[in-house]
Amino acid sequence: MNAIVNVTVTGAAGQIGYALLFRIASGQLLGPDVPVRLRLLEIPQGVKAAEGTAMELDDCAFPLLAGIDIFDNPRDGFDGANIALLVGARPRAKGMERSDLLEANGGIFRPQGEAINAVAADDIRVLVVGNPANTNALIAASNAPDVPKDRFSAMTRLDHNRALTQVAKRAGVAVDDVRKLTIWGNHSATQYPDLFHAEIAGQSSHVLTEDSAWLTEEFIPVVATRGAAIIAARGASSAASAANAAIDHVYDWVNGTREGDWTSAGIVSDGSYGVPEGLVSSFPVVSRGGSWEIVQGLEIGEFSRERIDASVAELVEERLAVRALGLI
Ligand code: NAI
Repeated sequence: MNAIVNVTVTGAAGQIGYALLFRIASGQLLGPDVPVRLRLLEIPQGVKAAEGTAMELDDCAFPLLAGIDIFDNPRDGFDGANIALLVGARPRAKGMERSDLLEANGGIFRPQGEAINAVAADDIRVLVVGNPANTNALIAASNAPDVPKDRFSAMTRLDHNRALTQVAKRAGVAVDDVRKLTIWGNHSATQYPDLFHAEIAGQSSHVLTEDSAWLTEEFIPVVATRGAAIIAARGASSAASAANAAIDHVYDWVNGTREGDWTSAGIVSDGSYGVPEGLVSSFPVVSRGGSWEIVQGLEIGEFSRERIDASVAELVEERLAVRALGLI
């Protein structure tokens, strides 16, 4: 039997938490031979609901679930954490300006970064799901100076998965036949889903990229505004699909991406593809030996360049705003 892995989940009583915890406990996050100990972190008002979820987890009798503990402060919640899924965040309230939203989330992600720095395990890996995910990851990473920056990532895997399905449907192939798609930039409506290097059943994707009406008026906006479309249809934001994407992200990070393909993740930029160093931006990535690496050498045409730059410009603005607030 492998060693027990401590997985901290924040926002454990929320709707993504409810869709996520059972899958982690069943072994889908790390693999079927890896026992996990869940550490649920909530605000005090969320603790009771988290206790209810923990009762249900107990009632599943998952063989891989080695224990569940519930906390209402980050210092205890991240103690010994090997994997941290930062899901809990402050949603945008009516009339809130972007700077208010960034400030409110800074109040969550700065202390969480500090706590991770102080008490998490040496091999800690952090996935930020709570929005604005890229900049929340930047805040957490900036406040954890002793943790290597490449241990922090922001989730754009849901956007990636959404794009895979749109392409598969359009091309009439199975989702598994679509490879080498990329989400660039911010997890927001400015994100750029890039098909230009994609392979569809082993063939180039030019049939789709040459259909410029479909590409610009359907594919890109459908992927980029899918979150709002889900809210409009369901009356609530994506939860099960977000949880699924978090599982995919961490599974690939730990176990490696498949040969002949890549995925998308928000990671700290090393300056690749003209993305300013230090920004948490989505890139085409592979995971080898437990670390994300940016896929290098892709040719970026004018169409893509413009869109990558627009999304990265938004990240630059967000970084300036959190700097001005003293959060990083
Ligand atoms: P929710 O409102 O159902 O749950 C959030 C939970 O976080 C609540 O239980 C709340 O008590 C808790 N929480 C708030 N502050 C906390 C703190 N400081 N420490 C610990 N827990 C805290 O929200 P839901 O639907 O679960 O979504 C969570 C976040 O994920 C949102 O920010 C949402 O925008 C984001 N999201 C991100 C996606 C992505 O692709 N990156 C996709 C879908 C959602």
